[in-house]
Amino acid sequence: MTKTDQMLAIFDEITNLKASPLYEYRTTNNYFAVIGEGSVDAKIMFVGEAPGRNEAKTGKPFCGAAGKVLDKLLNHVKLSREEIYITNIVKDRPPENRDPTPHEIEVYGPFLDQQIEIIKPKVIVALGRYAMGYVMEKFGLGEQLEPIGKAHGKAYQAIAPWKDARGAPVLIDIVTLYHPCVAVYNPNNLDKLKADFKILKKYGKQKK
Ligand code: URA
Repeated sequence: MTKTDQMLAIFDEITNLKASPLYEYRTTNNYFAVIGEGSVDAKIMFVGEAPGRNEAKTGKPFCGAAGKVLDKLLNHVKLSREEIYITNIVKDRPPENRDPTPHEIEVYGPFLDQQIEIIKPKVIVALGRYAMGYVMEKFGLGEQLEPIGKAHGKAYQAIAPWKDARGAPVLIDIVTLYHPCVAVYNPNNLDKLKADFKILKKYGKQKK
């Protein structure tokens, strides 16, 4: 199976996931599951929280107000959506954009794990505290977890669960950033986000 086929299989599985606490809400509203978008060969993978209304209506991640902020930030560090992969921990919209529950994160987390294994990125950028908590725990960095107000703009190194072509261990960077929605609620935060995003410049030119 190609990487794209593997992603499509994940989309099908989530679309039919009747056991999800968000399945009924999705189907009664004619929403889509949002599995992610971008290059399946990306060096940089962005992980957000959960789709909002615009995302659930279109099936595309970060296409609403937070997405507009994200585009400004990507542009600031000269990254295009085509060269990265963007997804969320929770793949269905929680009602009224409430925070995801621990159970929802438990249900959808394994799909994110599969996507990380398919893409094998060099860097995972966790947007906001939920993505940060999930990704850092997954990569054995749980003991270094801090509130996002302290962790924003930092990079942590971890050992990836895959090996390189010669069977040697692979290092992966986890970058923790504020969620772009903080600049939707308060546009004065945009400059802070732009300053933090500069940490991604060093990854842009790396070869995979
Ligand atoms: N917020 C997220 O975390 N993800 C999206 O796709 C949109 C808004």
